[in-house]
Amino acid sequence: MSQLTTYSTNTTSVPVSDKRCENKTDGYYCNRKMFIDEHGQPFCWYCKEISVQDQQLANETKFNHKKKQIQSLYESFSENSLINEKLKKATFTNYLPPNQELKAAKDRYIDFVREYDADNPISLLVIGNYGTGKSHLAVAATKEFMKMGKTALFIQVNKLFTKIKSTWHKNSDLTEGKLMDIISSVDLLVIDDFGAEFTEKDKSEVTWKVTKMNEIIDSRAGRATIFTTNFTIGELSSMYGERDFSRMVQDAEFVEMYGANYRLRNFSKGKGEQDV
Ligand SMILES: Nc1ncnc2c1ncn2[C@@H]1O[C@H](COP(=O)(O)OP(=O)(O)O)[C@@H](O)[C@H]1O
Ligand SMILES: [Mg+2]
Ligand SMILES: [Zn+2]
Repeated sequence: MSQLTTYSTNTTSVPVSDKRCENKTDGYYCNRKMFIDEHGQPFCWYCKEISVQDQQLANETKFNHKKKQIQSLYESFSENSLINEKLKKATFTNYLPPNQELKAAKDRYIDFVREYDADNPISLLVIGNYGTGKSHLAVAATKEFMKMGKTALFIQVNKLFTKIKSTWHKNSDLTEGKLMDIISSVDLLVIDDFGAEFTEKDKSEVTWKVTKMNEIIDSRAGRATIFTTNFTIGELSSMYGERDFSRMVQDAEFVEMYGANYRLRNFSKGKGEQDV
């Protein structure tokens, strides 16, 4: 058991009662002299302190449990990811911006983390062509969030829907409600490849996915979300419908990340230097 914080027993401002504490723990009576609180009620400083500590402990346990759940979700999302081995190593430091716009984008991501204010969170809508490091920087941001003791989740849109579907199985230990609860409550959610649900060929699949996406974003009102996408604003707007799209990203700041596809960087130098 941790140390008791000192509860001053020799001050004249706390009157002593003639009662002794009758709390019984592990078969023993506490039997400490009781004091009288501001309402004239006797109280035991020792037992009161213990109960405050127990409550703190209970809250911590609950918080850690939630964190663990998020951590395991985080891992389950990354395990299934296609590009993930490389993205797993992504940090701000190992992102080397090849042009000014990408340098500015990196700085924007860093400030986004540094200036995070839980009472006034902002969101980012990061657009740009394939392979410029949108996901890389978003992964780095989630790592920094977790270092700050915040909760964060990076989810690639298609993996998210696969995960949701997996909760529909009878023997899934995660329910859809629980999953949605976590997704809506993490301090930072990265929705990677926003709009990718439209590339689905089965039209009825598109419908529920788009409904779910709307639901997720609405549930995160007042929280920080990073959207990364290879689509343009115009494309997203016509896919989701102008009204829904503008509602979804109403609190988000746009960040552009255009440049050469990093995955193909060695191909332009000619053969012999390829390491992708
Ligand atoms: N400027 C960069 N410096 C270092 N690695 C980069 C850079 N840009 C991209 N990468 C790496 O290239 C790969 C593709 O980047 P990614 O973030 O997935 O691109 P996007 O999400 O924009 O399509 C990843 O493995 C990423 O770590
Ligand atoms: Mg990406
Ligand atoms: Zn007591």
